[in-house]
Amino acid sequence: MARAPNARVREIAEAFVRHMHAFAREVKLTEAEYGIGIDFLNRIGQATNDRHNEGILFADAIGFSTLVCLQNNGDNGATETAAALLGPFWRMHSPATANGASIVRSPTPGPELFVSCVLKDAKGAPIAGAEVDVWHSSPVGLYENQDEAQADMNLRGKFITDAEGRFSFRSVKPAGYPVPTDGPVGDLLRAQRRHPYRPAHIHFLAHKDGFKTLITQVFVDDDKYLATDAVFGVTRHLVGDYRRHDQGTPPAPGMAAPWYTLDYTFVMEAGEAKLPIPPIK
Ligand code: BEZ
Ligand code: FE
Repeated sequence: MARAPNARVREIAEAFVRHMHAFAREVKLTEAEYGIGIDFLNRIGQATNDRHNEGILFADAIGFSTLVCLQNNGDNGATETAAALLGPFWRMHSPATANGASIVRSPTPGPELFVSCVLKDAKGAPIAGAEVDVWHSSPVGLYENQDEAQADMNLRGKFITDAEGRFSFRSVKPAGYPVPTDGPVGDLLRAQRRHPYRPAHIHFLAHKDGFKTLITQVFVDDDKYLATDAVFGVTRHLVGDYRRHDQGTPPAPGMAAPWYTLDYTFVMEAGEAKLPIPPIK
């Protein structure tokens, strides 16, 4: 490894081998267990394709994605909005959608929801012209890419913040869902007697030159899995106020009671804008 010209490659490869050897020593790994581990790794690769990313799911399920996310992003809400893991379901080319428009692209029964957000910088000034990608599961807990009954890109959209840093959209209230358990990660969760559920949430990815890309999730406040998210994504600041309305004037024409609203302010730090590698196509 000393010959590796790239110092960072050298550092990472050295530390990785050191920790893997220490791990095998600590648990006195047997040859049979070694075989099971290699098979597990191979099955993660075999389960991954353009529509599913078992590798990210594995990193999520052992808390590794959240560790890397928190270690690289801010101070858990003290200044910038806390980040949360990207997850395996972000798609890069979601449809550009007008502010206030709906991201329901095929009939999706469930309680209606209106989301109003504002993006601010660390000094409280609005961030205009930022691109904000939004995606979430349906009221039955499935993303469109997992569900034949939903149109392509249902419950996904891309918004541009206005001069006041605002964007808004109409949708349906997401439900919590189990992470996919039909692959090796499911075997792992079952072996550990862990439930596979994530509390309901909406994903946001905010991007603008001059600001560090903000990837986060806003969780539904009455979800029973907030304290035991299978992939460790919840932090206190990211629990939203999803407010139920049984009467009054709805925020968009034709919304039927009961509808829900979510208002949320995101704070972005100055920094480098870069997009992650999309987990699926
Ligand atoms: C998600 O939030 O979309 C997600 C995160 C981890 C595993 C599965 C789904
Ligand atoms: Fe999600």
